[in-house]
Amino acid sequence: FLPQVLANKNITITAGPTREAIDPVRYISNHSSGKMGYALAQAAQWLGAKVNLISGPTSLETPGGITKISISDAEQMLQAAQEYTQNCDIFISCAAVADYKMKQVAPQKMKKTSDELTLELERNPDILASIASLAQKPFCVGFAAETQNLAHYAKDKMQRKNLDMIIANDVSNQAIGFNSNDNAVTVFWPKGSVEIEQTDKQNLAIHLLQLIAAQYEEK
Ligand code: C5P
Repeated sequence: FLPQVLANKNITITAGPTREAIDPVRYISNHSSGKMGYALAQAAQWLGAKVNLISGPTSLETPGGITKISISDAEQMLQAAQEYTQNCDIFISCAAVADYKMKQVAPQKMKKTSDELTLELERNPDILASIASLAQKPFCVGFAAETQNLAHYAKDKMQRKNLDMIIANDVSNQAIGFNSNDNAVTVFWPKGSVEIEQTDKQNLAIHLLQLIAAQYEEK
């Protein structure tokens, strides 16, 4: 193990869901609990890193010794990510960013006047891809939740988004993933891969940071 590799490194992690406003009282979001990202933040702090955790709304306690930046929507997460990846060694994008946002947020509470309602949505920015395209990019790690062709889709995503590593999990397995305390993943980097069997997210986070440290040092 390489405990010294991460000591005093700047690591920025995104975690949790984003919330996209529909009107002043409603939003679009997802079931991400933030547990995996918070576990990574805790583990990185244990390993001596300086950790910035950019988090969407979660019910989790912030681990001691880390800096938490609370945001709500994807645009805010992007801004925070751009700020906190300057002078950053490793960026881990664990957040479940909403794919779409309202084309126009209603300024007042929408009234239920019609039987049908259509919301017009537009794509959110891809936070990870935008950080990974910077000239001075940190070592970039992404996550991929897939229900089929795990290896194929994950490797494709790694290439497309210009990542140094991708952590893929099979979300068709109900025992793991979203909101669960456990997870099982396959990790891919350009020259290799490894499977990590089902374990709790805190234990998994340590394993993942070991792999990240090893590949970061190789680069
Ligand atoms: O494309 P997909 O959503 O499957 O990619 C997942 C990876 O990209 C995750 O690491 C996620 O945090 C990141 N992502 C992002 N911004 C988005 C969508 C995904 O940073 N708008």
